[in-house]
Amino acid sequence: VNGSPEDPRVRARSAFRGAFGSEPRWGAAAPGRVNLIGEHTDYNDGFVLPMAIDRVCVAVGGPAADPHESRILAVDLGETVSIDLSRPLEVGPGAGQIEQGSWPAYIAGVAARFQRLLGGSLANLDIAVASSVPVGGGLSSSAAIEVATSTLLEQATGITLEPKAKALLCQRAEHEFAGVPCGIMDQFVSVMGREGHALLIDCRSQVVEHIPMPRPEHIVVLILNSNVRHSLAAGEYAKRKAECQAAVRALGIASLRDADEAVVVQARAHLSDVEFRRARHVVSENARTVAAAVALRGGDLAGLGRLMIESHRSLRDDYEVSCAELDTLVELAEGTEGVFGARMTGGGFGGCVVALVSAPRAGRIAEEVGRGYRARHGRDLTATQANASAGAAAVAC
Ligand code: GLA
Repeated sequence: VNGSPEDPRVRARSAFRGAFGSEPRWGAAAPGRVNLIGEHTDYNDGFVLPMAIDRVCVAVGGPAADPHESRILAVDLGETVSIDLSRPLEVGPGAGQIEQGSWPAYIAGVAARFQRLLGGSLANLDIAVASSVPVGGGLSSSAAIEVATSTLLEQATGITLEPKAKALLCQRAEHEFAGVPCGIMDQFVSVMGREGHALLIDCRSQVVEHIPMPRPEHIVVLILNSNVRHSLAAGEYAKRKAECQAAVRALGIASLRDADEAVVVQARAHLSDVEFRRARHVVSENARTVAAAVALRGGDLAGLGRLMIESHRSLRDDYEVSCAELDTLVELAEGTEGVFGARMTGGGFGGCVVALVSAPRAGRIAEEVGRGYRARHGRDLTATQANASAGAAAVAC
C-alpha cells in the first residue's frame, strides 16, 4: 500500500512563491472521492453512497500582479496559462476562448459562475493548483479542482455559498466548461464529506445523510487503480444518459427513480434490449444502494460486500461500463482472503476498483491482487488505503 505523496498544500504554496514572487493570501483544499456503491444512478434521480478521500486538490491565490490577467499555474503539469477573469469567459475553439475540457476550463468554469454572482466581472488573481487526486482514475479529480476553486473564490470575493448551492455551481461549471453532463455525486461529496463517514445522497431530494464507516483498525477501504483509461469514457457517459432517458420515455415515467425491477421487467416488450438492460441496472442499483446503507449502519459488512459484487456484475453486464482490467481486479479480489466485496467505482472504462477489506490483511491483499493483475495484463496496479475524509475547507496560507 502506497504512502501518501508529498502534501499538495506545501507544493502549491511553494510553487506560488516561486512563480509569482509573493505569498499567497488565500488557500483551499477539496477532496476526491470513492463511491462505495450507487453507480450511474445520480443522473437518474437515484441514490449514491460515496465518501470523500484523503487525496485533495489545493488551490492557493492572491490578488493578481497585473489587474488585466489571472496567471494560473498547474503545479503538477508545470504549465501556466493567463486568463482575464474580469471579462466574459467562453468555451470554444476560437482565439481568446477556453478549450472545453482542458485543465484551465475547470477553473474558468467556476470563475464564470462567480462572475454571474457578482454581476459580470471578477477581480483577477494569481493562482497555483496542486493535486494528489490521480487524474483519470475515476476518483473525481475534476470535482476536486472545481470545488477547490470555488472555495478559493469564496474567500477572494467574500461570497459565502451554502454547501448545496456550491456543489450545484461546480456541477454547472463541469457541464458548461468541461462538457460532461455529470450528476451531482462528485461535487456533493467533495463539498459535504465528513471524516469517518460515507454519504448517502438522495439525488432527487438532494438530501445528504452521513453514515459512520467501520473503525479503520478493523475494516478499510482499499482503492485498486488499474492504471488504464479507455478513451471511450466521455462519449459513452453521455450515451448511457441518453439510453436511460429513452427508457424513461418508453416507460412513461418521470425518471428511473420511479421504477423498480418488477416494473422494468413487466415493460420489457416496450423497451429495446439495450434500454431494458440499462434500466434494469439503474433500478437494481438504487435498491442495492439503499440496502447497502442499511448494511453499513448495522455493521453487516458481509452483506455490504455482497451488494458491491452484485453492483459490479450489473455494471459489467447490463450497463456495460466496465472493462477487462476492472473485471480482473474484481475477480481476483473476490477470491482473496479478507475481502468483503469489490466493484468498479466512478464512470468506468478504466480507473479504479474499490474493495472493502479486513484491515490487517490490506497489505497482503494488495500484493496478491497485484501479482495476479500483472500476470494477466502485464501491468502494475496502484493500491491506496482510503480514509473517509472531510469536505472542502480553507487552508491557512
Ligand atoms: C462520474 C460522474 C458522476 C456519476 C459517476 C457514475 O463520476 O461525474 O456524476 O454519474 O460518473 O456513477
